[in-house]
Amino acid sequence: MSGRYSLLIRNGTVIDGTRAPRFAADLAVRGGRIAAIGRLAGARADAEIDATGRIVAPGFIDAHTHDDRLLLSAPDMAPKASQGVTTVIAGNCGISLAPLPAGVKPVPPMDLLDGTGAWFRFPTFAAYVEELRAKPAATNAALLVGHSTLRVQAIDDLGRPASGAEIARMRALADEALAAGAIGVSTGLWYEPASAATTEEVVEVCRPLARRNGLYCTHMRDEGDRVLESLEETFRIGRELGVPVVVSHHKVMGRANHGRSRQTLALIEARMRAQRIGLDCYPYCASSTILTASRVEVATKVLVTWSIPHPELAGLELAEIEKRLGLPTEAAIAKLLPAGAIYFSMDEADVQRILAFEQTMVGSDGLPHDAAPHPRLWGTFPRVLGHYARRLSLFPLETAVYKMTGLAAQIFGLAGRGVLKEGNAADITIFDAGTVDEAASFAQPIQPARGIDAVVVNGEVVWRDGKATGARPGQVLARS
Ligand code: ZN
Ligand code: CU
Repeated sequence: MSGRYSLLIRNGTVIDGTRAPRFAADLAVRGGRIAAIGRLAGARADAEIDATGRIVAPGFIDAHTHDDRLLLSAPDMAPKASQGVTTVIAGNCGISLAPLPAGVKPVPPMDLLDGTGAWFRFPTFAAYVEELRAKPAATNAALLVGHSTLRVQAIDDLGRPASGAEIARMRALADEALAAGAIGVSTGLWYEPASAATTEEVVEVCRPLARRNGLYCTHMRDEGDRVLESLEETFRIGRELGVPVVVSHHKVMGRANHGRSRQTLALIEARMRAQRIGLDCYPYCASSTILTASRVEVATKVLVTWSIPHPELAGLELAEIEKRLGLPTEAAIAKLLPAGAIYFSMDEADVQRILAFEQTMVGSDGLPHDAAPHPRLWGTFPRVLGHYARRLSLFPLETAVYKMTGLAAQIFGLAGRGVLKEGNAADITIFDAGTVDEAASFAQPIQPARGIDAVVVNGEVVWRDGKATGARPGQVLARS
């Protein structure tokens, strides 16, 4: 209790990120770290926050993002900081902003990161990390290097598996990224630039992971009819490499597969006994990615989120666009491309079963550059806290917080984060358990959440009373 603190959060109710029951305490910060938790009545600090009636929790870790470019182009990170997120895992689904030298043409779905391609200008992963360190964002970031980003520069014809020489080239690029600070490799085997890659190609490209202490994250080859085979492929890759795997945005898509999360979760649970497996999920029964006919086919409703040739149609239902253009589905899609969409193709019971699964983390999968984005971009974390924990009692609030904090820090190896305890980094979110909820909706997707009072990153307040403070203390995090 001695000495002056930089920040003192008084009279809060602490949920520490371990799933332990909440308790009343003050929390003091010094030098970017948590200096004390307890009764600190006599303590003095440069700044104080009164957290009476509020929850004081570890800052949330967004387990699945596409924020590679947002970290640089909108460093206040408003869509994330406004939700209480203090760390984002970027570079998912096989698409990372780096490394890709300027002049190499990005192909869909890389355009989810940047439609113009101008932001793809980092010849090495080290150059990207260097720029992030020189111009920090409000939140921390842990970075993955994307297999598809490597593939577009190593292979002339993306429609075939890589040759031995091409694999060696990609392996060297992956190794450079890991040496420069990436915590792992991501793949997007469902997407066109990578769907021709064999399991062997993925394993050989990812070889440096074991030596570099990295992990493997994947948007699997199939999340519909062949979801069980895709899970087995993921686990095999993890076993052959001897590294942890993360199944990204776990879901089961298409009406024929509704209910199959019973099988997928049983399989994940069984394989978890023999190898390290993580999974994340966003709390919605609609997905969002680039516009493609195959996804439209299995969806009950489709909303267009952006279109390069027809920006004025963003936000409309595809059925409405077909009517306006007087075109059948296939032709309407062709007119809109390149474009993005939201697909309603999941079952709410599956979403709840996956979200409630003990080992499931929370990842927004938000697409920050979409004109009419999926509401998960601004609403994921408050929705889990408000809609699923408070309103539906899917799990206790302590469990909800654990999924967003302690569990994610453990899976991604973010030492000294995710749990409120002395000595840990002061990444903290203060929220009102009675009102916290998403304000974003499919109709009005760009809305800061309700009930998030203050967000602290490395000891600095980055979000307060509905606004970014302008502080940018974010760090590039390593895996330990
Ligand atoms: Zn994905
Ligand atoms: Cu994704």
